[in-house]
Amino acid sequence: MATDKHIAVLPGDGIGPEIVDEGVKVIKAVGDRFNYNFHFSFNLVGGCAIDELQQPLPEDTLKQCRKADAVLLGAVGGPRWDRNPAHLRPENALLGLRKELGLYANLRPAILYPGLEGSSSLKAEVLKGVDLLVVRELTGGLYFGDKSTEQTDTGLKATDTLVYHEHEIERIVHRAFQLAQGRKKHVTSVDKANVLESSRLWRSVVERIAKEYPDIEVEHMLVDNCAMQMVRRPADFDVIVTENLFGDILSDEAAILTGSIGMLPSASLGEGTFGLYEPVHGSAPDIAGQGLANPVATILSVAMMFRHSFENEEVATIIERAVESVLASGARTADVAAAGESALSSKEMGDRIVEAILHQADST
Ligand code: NAD
Ligand code: IPM
Ligand code: MN
Repeated sequence: MATDKHIAVLPGDGIGPEIVDEGVKVIKAVGDRFNYNFHFSFNLVGGCAIDELQQPLPEDTLKQCRKADAVLLGAVGGPRWDRNPAHLRPENALLGLRKELGLYANLRPAILYPGLEGSSSLKAEVLKGVDLLVVRELTGGLYFGDKSTEQTDTGLKATDTLVYHEHEIERIVHRAFQLAQGRKKHVTSVDKANVLESSRLWRSVVERIAKEYPDIEVEHMLVDNCAMQMVRRPADFDVIVTENLFGDILSDEAAILTGSIGMLPSASLGEGTFGLYEPVHGSAPDIAGQGLANPVATILSVAMMFRHSFENEEVATIIERAVESVLASGARTADVAAAGESALSSKEMGDRIVEAILHQADST
């Protein structure tokens, strides 16, 4: 009997549609071989939804996501909408999806695939053994606190507030410890406890919860130091757990440990198996529409979809091995290719990965 799965696909803006095409191609290839019956719904999100429906997150898009077993998202945003007011910004759709769907745990693994050492701006010897996981809190903090802009006697005043409730910290910290149990059993909790009240609460919650995980080694690190240590000795990190904005910034920094931001996938999870999967990068307006985008981050996000939402570790591993073998064969998109080396298009890279998946499936 085939397993039915409903996937809500939200290509979005810029390179979003180009990379999502490659992700869907991978899902379809796997479906044929592993007895899945996939049902796709394609919906507008972000700038394209503003252009067509005057809202970044249309009700129907949210409805399809709620009905789905998983969501695959490309990226949103672009200069065309940069001057819009907050409620008409593409990025607002992402925040709405994360909040409405209760996706508070954002997993952003950064792995250096063999052969990509030379693609990073860091020295190969510094990168040796990099395999870390940023666990970013995704529905709290500065992104979701009260905001305002008001006129004062001395000019405009703008406010963002950083709020964390204890229960919001508890659930993400538990998630990080549980994930560390399946990895190298080390958690670095990143905060700014020397200045921020919310960070002092964060640290005290981590200290309390750590007692429930005696098998895990815990360290606390201030975010400014962490930003530096991540490029100084990146292989020493295992799981990094941190609040929303710190996680956003540190995960883009972690991308450089993998060779390119085009390599970094993510999973956004809540309590059950439902999840939203998207590359960490944005809509890359500078390369959109040219077939230059690296689809690997999206394809690795698809692997995470199989792992976390469909609970199929075998297929997740097959997709990751396919990426590894294609990269090991020297195939590169422009972002990770050496200067002067010929590069594959997004579509060619996706085709190579599909071939490698089918080859592995045939030999299992
Ligand atoms: P970006 O991640 O889009 O691009 C940064 C740089 O990385 C660019 O030079 C781009 O060409 C390159 N890059 C990104 N993805 C790549 C890929 N797959 N292959 C090759 N190169 C790639 O960040 P930005 O320029 O700061 O933001 C552009 C827009 O994207 C903004 O509107 C921003 O709000 C939005 N954004 C959206 C998301 C999302 O949808 N999840 C994430 C980040 C940024
Ligand atoms: C990300 C993006 C988003 C974020 C933006 C586009 C709202 O940068 O997913 O990393 O800041 O969370
Ligand atoms: Mn980001």
